[in-house]
Amino acid sequence: MIDLGYESFTATPHVMEDMWRNNTASISKGYEVLKNAMKEAGISNKLRMAAEYLVDGNFTRMLEEKEELLTIQKNWALIEISFIEPPRNLKEIIFEMQIQGYHPVFAHPERYNYYYKRLNELKEIRDSGCIFQSNILSFSGYYGPAAMQCAEWMADKGMVDLLGSDLHHERHLEALRKLKLTKALAKVMDQMADPNNSVDAVL
Ligand SMILES: [Fe+2]
Repeated sequence: MIDLGYESFTATPHVMEDMWRNNTASISKGYEVLKNAMKEAGISNKLRMAAEYLVDGNFTRMLEEKEELLTIQKNWALIEISFIEPPRNLKEIIFEMQIQGYHPVFAHPERYNYYYKRLNELKEIRDSGCIFQSNILSFSGYYGPAAMQCAEWMADKGMVDLLGSDLHHERHLEALRKLKLTKALAKVMDQMADPNNSVDAVL
């Protein structure tokens, strides 16, 4: 990643009750291990720990119990939803996060195929006060043509606020190495670099 030009890193392990039962304690433990490994390897790049919270029963409970969320920066908390169907309480969850002082960051909106025929719903989610974070590799077609098309549509509408690597394994790294700067990706990056139109200005 450093060879590719990335300078600082925010690690966002999954928090999912059915699969990755992470919590702040387990993520902190992993963070320390990684931080030490980086130190031993002489890598001094900034590393931040956060999480990618799946909106599920556990997340609803965390909000109910006002358990502190890990944030990717400031009060920005990264959430994702099921790829099978949207949670029925998504609007309430977003609202509750806002009430608790968080700014929800909605992960890879372009990858939920049930929204492809209901793009207005994606727009509504963003309009309800979410920051949209797309996967960089969606723009190269890594997740298929439909996700690419949706990412391009969002880029065209100025709906992509942040980009994430969503790096899980070597294959993602390999795909990032081969990434070409498409027109849509260039548009998003220009928008992100524009101080008048960056996410900080929008908030
Ligand atoms: Fe995700």
